[in-house]
Amino acid sequence: MLRRLHAEQPESFAFTAANQQWAEAQITKYPEGRQASAVIPLLWRAQEQEGWLSRPAIESVADMLGMAYIRVLEVASFYFMFQLQPVGSVAHIQVCGTTSCMICGAEDLIAVCKEKIAAKPHELSDDGKLSWEEVECLGSCTNAPMAQIGKDYYEDLTTESFGKILDDLVSGKVPTPGPQNGRYAAEPLKGLTSLTEYDSGRTQYNASVQLASELGDTVKRIDGTEVPILTPWLGKDGKAAATKAAPKPPKAPASAKPAVKQAAEAKAAKEEQPETLSVARDGKPDDLKMLKGVGPKLEETLNELGFFHFDQIAAWTSEHVAWVDTRLKFKGRIERDGWIEQAAKLAAGEETEFAKRAKEDGTYED
Ligand code: FES
Repeated sequence: MLRRLHAEQPESFAFTAANQQWAEAQITKYPEGRQASAVIPLLWRAQEQEGWLSRPAIESVADMLGMAYIRVLEVASFYFMFQLQPVGSVAHIQVCGTTSCMICGAEDLIAVCKEKIAAKPHELSDDGKLSWEEVECLGSCTNAPMAQIGKDYYEDLTTESFGKILDDLVSGKVPTPGPQNGRYAAEPLKGLTSLTEYDSGRTQYNASVQLASELGDTVKRIDGTEVPILTPWLGKDGKAAATKAAPKPPKAPASAKPAVKQAAEAKAAKEEQPETLSVARDGKPDDLKMLKGVGPKLEETLNELGFFHFDQIAAWTSEHVAWVDTRLKFKGRIERDGWIEQAAKLAAGEETEFAKRAKEDGTYED
């Protein structure tokens, strides 16, 4: 199946305020310059919020992480967990069609999907509430046949139990996930034959189902208000951490225009080319790699743009930063790494922590 952007796209995307805060907090998990590592959690949260990933959502995540749009699209189109087309407003059903499930009745479950939802995968049902697709093994083969609905597994299905689950979802109920034939987990159908002492004192459902029942977010769209936003890796709540460490996200669109387009227009309007040089003064360029965030490749790019000295960078205004920013591979890096402050110190003959370290062990950042 081709995985590409859907033909019809919404005008814009914006995280809810709570999801935005959550996303910014996630970015602080990673070292400076490595924010791209947060791409999957952010894409996933965008999908949890909207149900699927639109082009504006992908571009918005790319902007937050200073990544090229194509890089984020590559991730979104590679992993099948990301939906690139609208899904049912209530739930998207993923029926496992691999060996164990297939020989235990997956094809019959798919027939139920065709009858109750839509003739083809990824098509919406007439009321727009459900959609379905066949997926590869979901690792629950002992409980075949099974389907993932939203975040949870529904196992040991029959056409009847599966059909009932779909009907319940359409009528606004969320059926209890897990085995649908009375099994507790993946024990033999006739009951435990060993470790029977563990049979007592257990929770009502197995651990996964118990948690799913308590959270109750099986098919819920996540707006970020459901759980506290914590950043235990910093010992702080997300808000404080995000304010301190995350790069500035694009503002939520005030109009119907995509956030990305607005940001690009605003940026274009404020750009101004700084003064550049064709060669270094006296043929002696400064070692720009002494700036945190600048490695050999970025230094080369800066030289090509006409920057060879710390005092040039120290004199950049915000309009100049916007100009340089659009010509660098990693947007937002100048501000994030504080190049101007660092360059001012180095131009004045002072030392920075990073430059000291770089000189000692010869490591740079790129
Ligand atoms: S074959 Fe269906 S879960 Fe593994």
